[in-house]
Amino acid sequence: MSNYTVLIVDDERQQAELLAGFLRKKGFEALVARSGREALEELRARPIDLVLTDMRMPEMGGLELLHRGKQINPEVDFIVVTAFGSVENAVEAMKQGAIDYLMKPIDLEQLELVVNRARERRQLVSENRWLREQLASRHDFTNIISVSQRMNEALSIAARAAPTRATVLILGESGTGKELIARAIHAASPRRDKPFVVVNCAALPESLLESELFGHEKGAFTGADRLRKGRFELADGGTLFIDEVGDLPPQVQVKLLRVLQEGTFERVGGSQTLKVDVRILAATNRDLDRMVEERTFREDLYYRLNVVRIWLPPLRERREDIPHLLDHFVRRFASEYGKQIEGFSREALDLLLKYDYPGNVRELQNIVEQAVVLARGNLITTAELPPSLRSRFSPVEEEGTTLPEKVAAFEKRLLLEALERSQGVQTRAAQLLGITERNLRYKMQKYGLKGFRESG
Ligand SMILES: Nc1ncnc2c1ncn2[C@@H]1O[C@H](COP(=O)(O)OP(=O)(O)OP(=O)(O)O)[C@@H](O)[C@H]1O
Ligand SMILES: [Mg+2]
Repeated sequence: MSNYTVLIVDDERQQAELLAGFLRKKGFEALVARSGREALEELRARPIDLVLTDMRMPEMGGLELLHRGKQINPEVDFIVVTAFGSVENAVEAMKQGAIDYLMKPIDLEQLELVVNRARERRQLVSENRWLREQLASRHDFTNIISVSQRMNEALSIAARAAPTRATVLILGESGTGKELIARAIHAASPRRDKPFVVVNCAALPESLLESELFGHEKGAFTGADRLRKGRFELADGGTLFIDEVGDLPPQVQVKLLRVLQEGTFERVGGSQTLKVDVRILAATNRDLDRMVEERTFREDLYYRLNVVRIWLPPLRERREDIPHLLDHFVRRFASEYGKQIEGFSREALDLLLKYDYPGNVRELQNIVEQAVVLARGNLITTAELPPSLRSRFSPVEEEGTTLPEKVAAFEKRLLLEALERSQGVQTRAAQLLGITERNLRYKMQKYGLKGFRESG
């Protein structure tokens, strides 16, 4: 096996020498540095595979060393050593890119285990990189996990729209994967080598949004001391993802409409008309149909955006995806954090499968990441799950015991399904169910189901 070099950083010399001696006996190359500065010098001077650093040191702490060390050699792995009882420090370090942590006093057996794991991981990473690069260049939707029929329908629409120039409107609650889909569409389009530019309409005040989208001329307003290109210009030849499009103020809606219709615009404060070739993808978690009805969103703009429509159902309505997502994220974060985790304990899995994820896939992803970071064994247990999970059960009620109860539960499920398939358009849902719209509304009221839209 090729040499694997570990640099041990500790201001306590004896401790460092002891660990180095131990690692040498186990067949590793081991070096010692007594401060962050010395460690950085070593990192500049020779190839190091792993840095094992104390978190608390005078002058430069472990976190700072991690950041500066990665700048010198992005490939080097870090394991941090924290004082007993300061888990938060360890978690922080792992979030910043450390692959593992050890607690003081260091147990030598554990040290060997952790360093061996880091070495194995390194080998896997270099073998995987080639495979990943091959895959990434092949532009499919492999990073999107889905087994549910509804989600697969959405993906199939996305795949068919991808090679075209068509504007795509992506709808769904927060965290359902709208941006992920948008990126996948771009990556599967002929524009994949051109820029993918994002603008988030909810994140910017109205005054900035316009110049962000269209750019401004020098002197267009106070503070505009230089010409600045807008996102439309930056995306020329590529794709512009307009996120939270439902938050566009009316004045900007007009301008956007014009670009969509004519492909032209002017920079703020400019008179020259610019023309760009940009493919538009837009997303929102707002109910755009309702906003059009209430006249807060321009109908003409809505029709320009709504050429291809993709609706991503909330996670609680495609529960069959949950186990696959859990599995996907455990593997991903286990490998990212260099941990050997096989899955969940029965109780933990039970809670995770029952939960209703108001924050959708993003929430599930965060829960798993946190659990992986905290896990000490091969299995994630309930102790590593957020306490909220234990009290906030899914509102999906029991199916009941008597026949009328079971029938009612079944009817409600069918209604929900039809409403989802029709994307909330009641006329269509009623057709699917073979009942009148009036009857549908009555039943929706009876089961406390919320409609999105009266007709379509
Ligand atoms: N089907 C999926 N498979 C794998 N990862 C997913 C899936 N759906 C969502 N994710 C991940 O969940 C996170 C949230 O997704 P994304 O940012 O696309 O959501 P969003 O709908 O844009 O949310 P928001 O409305 O809050 O902006 C991302 O990290 C994304 O990679
Ligand atoms: Mg988003």
